[in-house]
Amino acid sequence: MTAVLVIDRQHPEPGAIAKAAEILRDGGLVAFPTETVYGLGANALDAAAVARVFEAKGRPPTNPLIVHLAAVDQVAQVVADWPEKAARLVERFWPGPLTLVLPKRRELPDIVTAGGPTVAVRVPAHQVAQALLKQAGVPIAAPSANRSTEISPTTAGHVLRGLEGRIDLVLDAGPTSGGIESTVLDVTTAPPRLLRPGLVSRSDLEAIVGPIVQSDDLVTSSAGLPRRSPGQMPRHYAPRVPLELADGDGRTRVEELAAAGRRIGWVTWPGVAEVPGVERVELPCEPVAYAAGLYAALHDLDAAGVERIVVAKPPETDAWLAVRDRLRRAAHS
Ligand code: TXA
Ligand code: MG
Repeated sequence: MTAVLVIDRQHPEPGAIAKAAEILRDGGLVAFPTETVYGLGANALDAAAVARVFEAKGRPPTNPLIVHLAAVDQVAQVVADWPEKAARLVERFWPGPLTLVLPKRRELPDIVTAGGPTVAVRVPAHQVAQALLKQAGVPIAAPSANRSTEISPTTAGHVLRGLEGRIDLVLDAGPTSGGIESTVLDVTTAPPRLLRPGLVSRSDLEAIVGPIVQSDDLVTSSAGLPRRSPGQMPRHYAPRVPLELADGDGRTRVEELAAAGRRIGWVTWPGVAEVPGVERVELPCEPVAYAAGLYAALHDLDAAGVERIVVAKPPETDAWLAVRDRLRRAAHS
């Protein structure tokens, strides 16, 4: 049984937070909102609890988890080395949607980092996440609260769709504002390496630490090369039905599929005229607002039972990098 507690996003009720923290301290699993997507939390210092996260998600044990902290002064609990670059980055971006990869402390159970020598850490900005982390008093390992390879949840309903009955509690604070997962930056390398683009953009990062490299070389590399971030697995963040990207507003492709009698979901731009019989979602022409609505749109179309989702291709500019990354992976079959 999965319990659901509705909680105020600005002023989380202490009773609900106390209940959730107690479950976490007892080795249970709690899904909670962050400013990006909902996370599935477990006590990061409790290997058995973390094992339950992998089991609930069906996540391969080779894919490490992000450890969430209440504040920067907790990093020493999980991180063995704190380079000056990390200090400068978190001064600017924490709490917020930036995850840093750093050398791991021996005491942190290996299961959290998939046996690797590094750990990914972040301090989330959401009031509910903050209150929960403070009350729990331990670092919380939390991947996105979805089944492995499916789209991340931006509402409690999305969490339940994938994990109902597999976790103990969901804290429901309504939709998350960011909509896509945090930026992941490896600061153990020189120059630092962008492992996953996100709402903190490449230029935001470079303004603080100078040039960084992107790991597209590894994303596209053939089998055999180590994957620095398993989130780079080509098929990730995918809806249950096939998704394809189409040029322009997508209309030509949508009409073609609809004429062939297929039930189509269509993600396109505001003001584009309808195609009869097609489930259409309009997303804003601005990348941050688009990201905020993207996963909800895909969850909705998935749930509407369409056979295929056609998405109008976003612009090739830097500002759309994180959105293009998620769509490219969602389209990979
Ligand atoms: O916004 C977010 O980051 C959300 C919320 C809940 O905080 N969490 C999230 O977690 O997206 P998850 O597990 O779905 O994605 C974590 C990403 C994966 O791509 C994983 O491979 C990478 O971070 N990662 C974790 N630990 C790593 C490590 N030690 N080295 C390299 N990549 C790591
Ligand atoms: Mg995930």
